[in-house]
Amino acid sequence: METKLDEIADGIYRLSTFVAEVVPPAGFTFNQFLIAADEPLLFHTGPRAMFPLVAEAVARVVPVESVRWITFGHLESDECGSMNMWLAAAPRSEVAHGALGCDVSLNDMCDRPPRPMADGETIDLGGKRVRHFDTPHVPHGWEARVLFEETTGTLLCGDLFSQLGGRDVPLTTGDLVEPAMAAEGMFRASSMAPDTAEVMRRLGELSPTTLAVMHGSSYSGDGHKALYDLAAAYEEQYLRPAF
Ligand SMILES: [Fe+2]
Ligand SMILES: [Fe+2]
Repeated sequence: METKLDEIADGIYRLSTFVAEVVPPAGFTFNQFLIAADEPLLFHTGPRAMFPLVAEAVARVVPVESVRWITFGHLESDECGSMNMWLAAAPRSEVAHGALGCDVSLNDMCDRPPRPMADGETIDLGGKRVRHFDTPHVPHGWEARVLFEETTGTLLCGDLFSQLGGRDVPLTTGDLVEPAMAAEGMFRASSMAPDTAEVMRRLGELSPTTLAVMHGSSYSGDGHKALYDLAAAYEEQYLRPAF
């Protein structure tokens, strides 16, 4: 396995590891995002077994020990399995997550106390700025959240828009909704909460110009439309009343 590195927005790097054995023949990518700033931020750590690959890729951009913020969408091994390895490798680093996720899990699971964030709160990274939004159960996990990097208009949207494949296309301007709905049909990974589509539209109101996607290609273009289209597709496919 190798981890590819691509800059998908100014100072925002996609670290992508393709695993052919997951969902063959298309395969599956596991992507982390590194925001290069005075206080570098990592969104998703990858599972523990991928730590050497991810750390090597981070080191191509910033020293591993300079990473200041460890962040992720929700608690699963590909999102945050190696968080304690990162806390050890980067001595000034802290996990930053929504307050609920800290209370429910991270205060116990992190080797150093995490930094809780309120809904809508920002962290100034020095040259970049991330805003935290709670998105409970969207796409899954009570503690689910996204980050929006405001200077580049990049939404770090985690498992939203997950697609198979995408090894050779770090950033696309093409449609992501159809491949994302195909993946949803295969995995059924999303919680279908009463406000699932509404949360997607609320994120659309941020009008992101880049969608940093955890599995598959990231997207450059009209993020408002993409998120509204995703919400409509979920409503059509899964969220209609059964009567
Ligand atoms: Fe997930
Ligand atoms: Fe994921």
